Amino acid sequence: SQFQKGVKHMYENGIAHVPNKYILPDAERPNVITEKSSVNPPDHLNIKLPVIDFAELQGPNRAQVLESLAYACENYGFFQLVNHGIADEIISNMVNASKRFFEMPFSDREKYMSADMTAPVRYGTSFNQTNDGVFSWRDFLKLVCHPLPDVLSHWPSSPHDFREMAVTYAEETRFLFLMLVEAILESLGLDNNREKKTESSVLNDVDADEDAIFKELEDGSQLMVVNCYPPCPQPDLTLGMPPHSDYGFLTLLLQDEVKGLQIQHQDNWVTVQPIPGSFVVNVGDHLEIFSNGKYKSVLHRVVVNSIKCRISVASLHSFPFTSTVRPAAKLISETNPRRYEDTDFASFLEYIKSCDSKKKNFLESRK
Ligand code: SIN
Ligand code: FE2
Repeated sequence: SQFQKGVKHMYENGIAHVPNKYILPDAERPNVITEKSSVNPPDHLNIKLPVIDFAELQGPNRAQVLESLAYACENYGFFQLVNHGIADEIISNMVNASKRFFEMPFSDREKYMSADMTAPVRYGTSFNQTNDGVFSWRDFLKLVCHPLPDVLSHWPSSPHDFREMAVTYAEETRFLFLMLVEAILESLGLDNNREKKTESSVLNDVDADEDAIFKELEDGSQLMVVNCYPPCPQPDLTLGMPPHSDYGFLTLLLQDEVKGLQIQHQDNWVTVQPIPGSFVVNVGDHLEIFSNGKYKSVLHRVVVNSIKCRISVASLHSFPFTSTVRPAAKLISETNPRRYEDTDFASFLEYIKSCDSKKKNFLESRK
């Protein structure tokens, strides 16, 4: 049907109303406060996420920053990462190449469409276009990023510099992710000083465990999802992305200057204010499980607007597909019993296949 061609295509054909296929039931609509509205959103619906200064994390204030990091992961499930060390140019190149990808004629984007959820490259629309009851106002390009040599030849060859920009971005993001993992393990009280450990001859089981976790994540899976949310004539009737949590360990999200991401915080949907050049980082299901529930994988969604196209690039990092995820031994005690069963990628995939636009938290679905 016409909807399978996506929302950019529809927008380019100048639609004035949102087709029924995209209209959510009343209770699931976003309550968008439009730019035209004279009423400002109440302060508590506009949120400034906790800010983590990555450069400061590497300096004498590390302990203090780790505390802020723990606070953010426990109470928001999200933080904004600034001074992350990835050059501005690499970031703006990625955003620009993504914009130009979506500006290509539909026939050039269509080549990458695939119904195969595991394809190394997949262009698509909505959330899960084969299953969604109500469609989402979003087109996307999904790129498998690891191991790079296996997938690279499948990545889009146009725009001519897309591959080059995306590879650099993916590699830098992966490196940053691993630095963040070290900080996260440390913030959980899991000593991850690997250099020190190799010097000592005896490792206890728990330390060996943590070492294994880091090694697994070093070889973990990475996916990039480039999202395009074109202007929508009736943004209060639909969503760019339905409420969901991310299944992996951490997601590093880059958004352009157009807001749209909302997170669930203290029973409200609150809008994240973009900070140019920074990353929005969020805890995924794997990390919630690994932390035995200390860190929260929080529901989030995307609202659209009638004026500006929004571009975002999500880099999702998780354990290898063959891993089993379980709470860290050190975080289980008599007073803090194990809260999650072992989970593997196969059971997650089973769940995701059955999802439609009502996707909820994967962890909730298993309770
Ligand atoms: C996502 O949840 O993966 C994307 C969010 C966004 O586009 O801001
Ligand atoms: Fe997400």
